Amino acid sequence: MTQTTRRTFLGGSLAALAAPAIAQNAPLKVGLMLPFSGTFATLGENIAAAFELCVAENGGKFGGRAVTLVRLDDESDPSKAPANVNRLLGRDNVDALVGTVHSGVVMALVQAAREKEVPLFIPNAGNVAATRELCSPSVFRSSFSNWQPAYGMGKALAAKGVKKAAWVTWEYAAGKESAEGFGDGLKAGGAELVKVLTLPFPETNFQPLLAQLPGLGVDAVGSFFAGGGAIQFVKDYAAAGLRDKMPLCGSGFLTEGVLKPQGAAAEGIQTALHYGDGLDNPKNKWFREAFMKATTRSADVYAVQGYDAGQMLAAGLAATKGDAAAVKALAAAIRATKIDSPRGAFTLSASHNPVQTIWLREARNGENRVIGAAAEALADPGTGCKMAV
Ligand code: PHB
Repeated sequence: MTQTTRRTFLGGSLAALAAPAIAQNAPLKVGLMLPFSGTFATLGENIAAAFELCVAENGGKFGGRAVTLVRLDDESDPSKAPANVNRLLGRDNVDALVGTVHSGVVMALVQAAREKEVPLFIPNAGNVAATRELCSPSVFRSSFSNWQPAYGMGKALAAKGVKKAAWVTWEYAAGKESAEGFGDGLKAGGAELVKVLTLPFPETNFQPLLAQLPGLGVDAVGSFFAGGGAIQFVKDYAAAGLRDKMPLCGSGFLTEGVLKPQGAAAEGIQTALHYGDGLDNPKNKWFREAFMKATTRSADVYAVQGYDAGQMLAAGLAATKGDAAAVKALAAAIRATKIDSPRGAFTLSASHNPVQTIWLREARNGENRVIGAAAEALADPGTGCKMAV
């Protein structure tokens, strides 16, 4: 029985009695809409692998139903996003959605989750609207809002005595919103964001932007880049000889999962993120070993977010006995659950975004070592979220 017909039937009293029993025996189809190609490909792979790890840890079942995964490569292309979401919901009839990495692409998922009341778990994309004005009982984030890590970085920088800083990033929602968080963090510490420099996503011709930096009169440069773009930016920044004049910092994605290819160019760069190397808790220890065993790769923040998306869905379905369409009950259960994350346990804010510590990290010998807390128990402001659960 497909999801659409099940929902239609739930209106009728006879069918309402019969339908859940059938649905609960059927496999649970989860659509993984992620980038498996392009600049964010490695991010998507780690999210998917860690979600699978969570499924395996639960014996292949969530809420008593066998989990089937349907993977779809969204290519981090917003123009293809509506068609891709329709494919998962229409052709594949998935019961729940997990996606995605890119803040522009995630909007099509959020829209569908709201309209069709299909539960959506966002395992990365930080678009603030998803947990602000577009918040919904069916939309959950296991990651961060673009504002959170950048706010932490700005605050930490101001605390170090920096007075003026610039932000360099891609020109799309994640770039714009991280710049706002950085500016808010600087301001909270009495410092100032004087300039935001951008180039189109996913371009990597950084030279024209790098050439402008020395003329800005700033003490430090912050940035949001990730994946392949972050590798190139960190290398180009070092090659331009700017590191001694204006230390480079950023949202932690700048050095996350990419330290090896960045090499010496990344050494000493400080970033802020809700995860880091050396976090000492039993869940993190178990997770890093299990992820390494499953993939032969080191865990990173993307893996953690994919795993926690699985934990959240599992917690919700345990409460509804496998009924993914019972969105309100699912939401109530997830909101009441303390997620035992490798980043440290967290709960969701009223708008379904993690309340979490943003760590200050320093890149040393291929690791993003945690060196302190940039902002403790930080919640996104959740501005404009009105939801009745
Ligand atoms: C985003 O588009 O929201 C985004 C992409 C990659 C990241 C972080 C945020 O690493």
